[in-house]
Amino acid sequence: MYNERVVEHFSNPRNVGELPDADAIGENGSFKCGDTMKIYLKIKDDRIVDVRFLTFGCGAAIASSSMLTEMVKGKTLDEAMEITNQDVADELGGLPPLKLHCSNLAADALHNAIENYRKGKGKIETA
Ligand code: FES
Repeated sequence: MYNERVVEHFSNPRNVGELPDADAIGENGSFKCGDTMKIYLKIKDDRIVDVRFLTFGCGAAIASSSMLTEMVKGKTLDEAMEITNQDVADELGGLPPLKLHCSNLAADALHNAIENYRKGKGKIETA
């Protein structure tokens, strides 16, 4: 069902946990399945210098979260805002059609964190 890259990220997810001194926090939840993701960003000079995540979800959601954190490190906020769920799925070498929505969790949580940061909310969490 999942390709090797997805299984590898699911089995050995990168950047798991919290960032106590995060500059921005974003969240997202799926109405479809109830899974959730929280992302923590450390930002310097408009660039993402560190990132962590906590995801309570299926294998595809965890693999997507892990891949996303690898993709955003070092990117500017503008570049990170352009990352779509399809980009994440593509980097994973594809997801089964029924699991494509799982990659939304990661991309949308990232965008939520950046929006919070830009609104000056910083560490304030939103639902
Ligand atoms: Fe919920 Fe995959 S089934 S994110």
